[in-house]
Amino acid sequence: MTNKITTLGGFIYEYQKSVSHPEDFWSSIAETFYWQKKFDKVLEWDFEKPDVKWFLNGKLNITENIFERHMFERKNQPALIWEPNNPKEKEKVYTYKELYDEVRVFANMLLSKGIRKGDRVVIYLPMIPELTIAMLACARIGAIHSVIFAGFSVNAVADRVKDAGAKMIITADGGYRGTKTIPLKEIIDEAMDNCDCNSVKNILVIKRTGQKVAFMEDRDVWLEDALKGISKENDAEVMESEDPLFILYTSGSTGQPKGLVHSTAGYMVYTSYSFKNIFQYSDGDVFFCSADIGWITGHSYIVYGPLLAGATTVMYEGTPTYPDAGRFWDIVEKYKVNQFYTAPTAIRALMGYGQKPFEGKDLSSLKVLGSVGEPINEEAWHWYHDFVGQSRCPIVDTWWQTETGGIMISPLAGITPTKPAYATLPFVGVQPAIMNGDGKEQSGKSVEGNLCIKFPWPGMARTVWGDHKRYKKTYFSQYKGYYFTGDGVKRDEDGYYRILGRVDDVINVSGHRLGTAEIENAINEHPLVVESAVVGYPHKVKGQGIFAFVVCQELSTGGVEGIKTSVKKAVEKIIGPIARPDEIRLVEGLPKTRSGKIMRRILRKIAEGGTKDFGDTTTLLDPGIVDSIIENECEKKYQKKDKKK
Ligand code: PRX
Repeated sequence: MTNKITTLGGFIYEYQKSVSHPEDFWSSIAETFYWQKKFDKVLEWDFEKPDVKWFLNGKLNITENIFERHMFERKNQPALIWEPNNPKEKEKVYTYKELYDEVRVFANMLLSKGIRKGDRVVIYLPMIPELTIAMLACARIGAIHSVIFAGFSVNAVADRVKDAGAKMIITADGGYRGTKTIPLKEIIDEAMDNCDCNSVKNILVIKRTGQKVAFMEDRDVWLEDALKGISKENDAEVMESEDPLFILYTSGSTGQPKGLVHSTAGYMVYTSYSFKNIFQYSDGDVFFCSADIGWITGHSYIVYGPLLAGATTVMYEGTPTYPDAGRFWDIVEKYKVNQFYTAPTAIRALMGYGQKPFEGKDLSSLKVLGSVGEPINEEAWHWYHDFVGQSRCPIVDTWWQTETGGIMISPLAGITPTKPAYATLPFVGVQPAIMNGDGKEQSGKSVEGNLCIKFPWPGMARTVWGDHKRYKKTYFSQYKGYYFTGDGVKRDEDGYYRILGRVDDVINVSGHRLGTAEIENAINEHPLVVESAVVGYPHKVKGQGIFAFVVCQELSTGGVEGIKTSVKKAVEKIIGPIARPDEIRLVEGLPKTRSGKIMRRILRKIAEGGTKDFGDTTTLLDPGIVDSIIENECEKKYQKKDKKK
């Protein structure tokens, strides 16, 4: 396999080269891809503007680099293995040739529906093969896909469809997740009723669950009808290196999610190269990432990275515990998985089931284990290492973000010596910087601060869809000339990096990134709620749980518990079940400064169970509110009233 680092010395050498001569370095990697016209300049950048361009004036199509480039060698090799939710249903295996045909037919169908280069197509699908096919079909014709996680609900979907100005939505009648069936088409219909998304001309519906759905003539069409008579002959659209490949929405400190835009060539080079090296993928291996394609992990390491590298990638429709907690290990055994990539929250959940789910399962095919999405605590790391990896598989704790496109800090499997809970060293081409409170970069070892990146890498997002100012403000304004990640970090005496978690108002619940403001907005839509403040707190399985402090008007029927349940339901309906608060405390008021700012650190402390040492509280408008919240006075008052009734 080309461009594969195989020793620690090789890694150190390549890293140094990537820092001292980044353009030569990335150019030599990019040259191994198939270009319709080769780039004539490697990089142009300015982090102050900000403006980043890679592989300038190159022309290519990413799907030609997945299919045409591999066809001679890999025609009959499985590209995509799909494992259904229900283990009794038959799996589907697509070879490179079969997937190629599916993608081209789908691409022609999109063209027949009037979709053209640059149009946005929202994909709201369960984890079925058509999700991968639809993404690649969009890429084939130059349409920009925007996948929305199928666990998001009405308002979250509506906001994203509207912001993207989507011309088409691709969805399914419903989706299976464990024992649940999610009414996807119904959610889309409701989202369309709730927003003036006039840009949407067609809704393409795939049959998965067979449940009854409403159909709007002229707008809605079944996939099977749309595909009738469509040929598979298709020439890939010519794309410029910097043409957008996809938009993926993520949460930030403010209420409105941001649509990060990823480019064609840079993303291609970075995901493929990082995939091969970090997971040490070898020809013939089977790679299984358990993430959902609705998140960046699935985009980069189920779909693009593996397929660009000519790998066999497994996509699983269901949950880790359906029909029982041994399901991942069944999949590993069934397909002889070599590299397995999951999130600490899944590991912690499975730890709770002990050793039984492993009994009789053959995990000997495993060579590498990966972790992503949140800090992995030492206990989970050891369990993963000892029981899943049977003490012989290296763990790659991979730190990265939706914005970075690919893995940024991580060991190379079996090459970089690991340390539990450390993402270890920056990947090739990545130049981290740790900033102190004065906004200065700290050199040397044993330092802690905010994590920035000081030099561009090909996989980075280029802008926020429709709002470049926001891109600048969010990532490039805190530290002049640096990309700011939003994470805290420590570099130890060995120069190893340990990610400490978010330093902004973003919380990480079961590896899902949620903005506290987004959840607050949803809570505040409840008719009895005056205002609210949401904070994260340590949670044994989820990493962080959601704690909501809610100010209500007088309670109506249902009392304290009634209102808590209805607030949770409202959040589920507006954003989705992932954003449902774990804890709600009704309060008389929030701790605000005289200028009206909520002092979240106090609420964080209370959510953790703290009752004192709140630091400087002299700027609080009403210091008495803190004791009242700790004592839970508001709920006690309501409960007393309820009893009287
Ligand atoms: O806080 C970091 C955490 O997840 C955030 C990025 O979330 P998202 O854009 O949804 O992408 C998740 C998957 C790439 C980061 O800012 N995070 C991600 N990986 C790790 C991590 N925290 C600690 N260790 C990791 N390995």
